[in-house]
Amino acid sequence: MERSAALALLDQFVHDPGLKKHCLATGAVMKALALRLGGDTGSWETIGILHDIDFELIQGDMQIHGIKGAEILTAAGVDPGLVRIVRQHNHHLFSGTYEQPVEIALQAADSASGLVIACALVKGRRLSEVTPQTVTKKAKEKSFAAGCDRTRIALIEHLLPITEFYAVAITGLLEIRTELGLT
Ligand SMILES: [Fe+2]
Repeated sequence: MERSAALALLDQFVHDPGLKKHCLATGAVMKALALRLGGDTGSWETIGILHDIDFELIQGDMQIHGIKGAEILTAAGVDPGLVRIVRQHNHHLFSGTYEQPVEIALQAADSASGLVIACALVKGRRLSEVTPQTVTKKAKEKSFAAGCDRTRIALIEHLLPITEFYAVAITGLLEIRTELGLT
């Protein structure tokens, strides 16, 4: 699936600008991670962009988050392998262990994208001034970007050191900084 097709599908179901940015940011981190880890950049980015496609539809009911998303994506003809990863990414529901690199990457990218963006916001929206050290330091403050689950980010340590992960995440987000309203 082309990025433009993923964005068009996202536009049909996600209207909140903040949520849209979260989806784009997660896609950008996923793409950068795919480059670093030897994953398929196109499909990893698509998974990131579409992972929360049902978030407005579910109206806060986390018991159906991912399930509804999978239904939307199946109806849109998205590859079943990608659909399964989106369905299972809701860690509140998934009882197994995330083992595939792409699944682990999504857990970390979903949580870290917001953390890195929050670091840029405290630097006057200048993402270019955020370093892995900035993110590591801010991540230790529990009240900072409290919605970004550090436990899910830490899963990435199965694949690469966390400081390197933050560097990859920053690089990915810099690629779309204009779309995110950052510099
Ligand atoms: Fe998400």
